[in-house]
Amino acid sequence: GHCSHLLKILVIGDQNVGKTTFVHRYVSGQFNRDYRSTVGVDFSMKALQWSDTETVRLHLWDIAGQERFISMARIYYKGASGCVVMFDVTNSSSFLSCRHWKQDLDSKATLPSGGAIPCILLANKCDLADRSVSAESISRFCKANGFVTWMETSVKDNKNITEAMRFVNNPGPPSVV
Ligand SMILES: *[C@@H]1O[C@H](CO)[C@@H](O)[C@H](O)[C@H]1NC(C)=O
Ligand SMILES: *[C@@H]1O[C@H](CO)[C@@H](O)[C@H](O)[C@H]1NC(C)=O
Repeated sequence: GHCSHLLKILVIGDQNVGKTTFVHRYVSGQFNRDYRSTVGVDFSMKALQWSDTETVRLHLWDIAGQERFISMARIYYKGASGCVVMFDVTNSSSFLSCRHWKQDLDSKATLPSGGAIPCILLANKCDLADRSVSAESISRFCKANGFVTWMETSVKDNKNITEAMRFVNNPGPPSVV
């Protein structure tokens, strides 16, 4: 028969780095506004055909509106299988915050195996000329803080969006539920 797997993916980072537009770009408009009033986050879904008989449903959790705290309730992180930590490459303060976001996540949630939830670091707005964070420092930071990898993205120019999400939702074949 056909089976369907559910993966919860978090999208975190400071305000105005492009998280919400990133999610909209990726899911092309599927959006559930109702969830926001319940948990205080935006919640979107995208279904992917994994193989002939398997579908993966991605639930993307965007913390829109909660970014001032750099500390989320455990329930928000619970059960996540992957995470996007995003900053604005023209804003070094949003880059420095990524360490706190990663630490907040790691201190509150793990995979069922006990391992850290795999995180990708995204340097967004790479279409802009006035960068204030160098590729070299991002690389170093990425290693030092346990990110799986990092990529430059431009939500505006639709660059590396699908590629980045492929990293996050492809940690291995999903386990059969
Ligand atoms: C840079 O990001 C911080 C949050 O990390 C924000 O408070 C600040 O307004 C941003 N600066 C600019 C110029 O966008
Ligand atoms: C995607 O990200 C990689 C790693 O940062 C970068 O080398 C590449 O240029 C990016 N691709 C685009 C189209 O921006």
